[in-house]
Amino acid sequence: MYTVPKLDDYSPAALDAAVRELLVALDSESKAVSNESDWKNLRDRWMARKSGILTQINDLWLKAAPAPAKREVGQRVNQLKSRVEQIIDAAQGRLKAARPLESQRLDITLPGIRRPIGAEHPVIKALNEIVSVFKAMGYSVSEGPEIETDYYNFEALNFPPNHPARDTQDTLFIAGQQSKPLRDRLLLRTHTSPVQIRTMEKLAPPIRVVIPGKVHRNDAPDASHSPMFHQVEGLAVDTNITFCDLKGTLDHAMKALFGSSVRTRFQPSFFPFTEPSAEVAISCIFCGGKGCRTCKQGGWIELLGCGMVDPNVFEFVRNNGYDPAKVSGFAFGMGADRIALLKYGVDDIQLFFQGDVRFLAQFA
Ligand code: PHE
Repeated sequence: MYTVPKLDDYSPAALDAAVRELLVALDSESKAVSNESDWKNLRDRWMARKSGILTQINDLWLKAAPAPAKREVGQRVNQLKSRVEQIIDAAQGRLKAARPLESQRLDITLPGIRRPIGAEHPVIKALNEIVSVFKAMGYSVSEGPEIETDYYNFEALNFPPNHPARDTQDTLFIAGQQSKPLRDRLLLRTHTSPVQIRTMEKLAPPIRVVIPGKVHRNDAPDASHSPMFHQVEGLAVDTNITFCDLKGTLDHAMKALFGSSVRTRFQPSFFPFTEPSAEVAISCIFCGGKGCRTCKQGGWIELLGCGMVDPNVFEFVRNNGYDPAKVSGFAFGMGADRIALLKYGVDDIQLFFQGDVRFLAQFA
């Protein structure tokens, strides 16, 4: 920082040297000015009336000069004053010229507008994973309507009117249809099995198809039930399809979904549209079958229903090549939400459907 020296040599050469030193200092100070407040500080430091550098020069150089040198010093000090003013004005001029650029300045460190990236819903993720396991085995994918007729949801699946098996699927009916014949009345499909019939109406055998979709039942919501949930249906029809094919296919699928050390268990069960029918469980993926809280100490987790297509079902599509004397097939249906709960270690199915981004973002 420049400070004003006292002079004891008032020769023109000494004065020139002192002036030069001052101008060099001012020059570098003025170059360092980068904004309005820098510039004000510079102006005050040099030109303030009470104790600015020019005032000090007046005192230390001119007033202190011996009489014979006064003329010489006075001239220099006057020149210096206008020179200092010029330099300080120029510094302000440079600031003003730079100002438009300053205001257009782009702060590239400011974060941009973030578009949150969406994520696949965990249930959709599980659906897709199940579907791709079957695609790899040569299955194609089909879909059907969520609002279904009694015919497809029940009758053609060998649930006769008033059959007690209908009570196992607590159905949500669309109101005000009493004037229609029973088979045409609309309901929210209780399973994806109606798409078995719809597929066989469209495609002649052989077929191998998986059908992912949404289904509804009049169940009270709790940690393991939701009135809306998801299933993946499977159907294979060909000549000479046996229960062995069913077992092998589902055993492979469960290993592909849950890991190769998983075992499958088939227990006799009942569905009107399959005969024989079975309930399939997998060895508990948390304890390996030893017994834990998740498998309720049983070592097995029930996951899906399946069976050989009942000949009575084929009768509904016999005209499209499904003569029960010639073809056989198997079908299965699994709950995608339950599979998602197990795969992702979620303990409450309601979390899937509450739309809480903090929960869903964990699957991004
Ligand atoms: N649709 C049956 C259910 O929802 C499951 C199933 C599908 C059983 C296919 C056998 C064959 O309970």
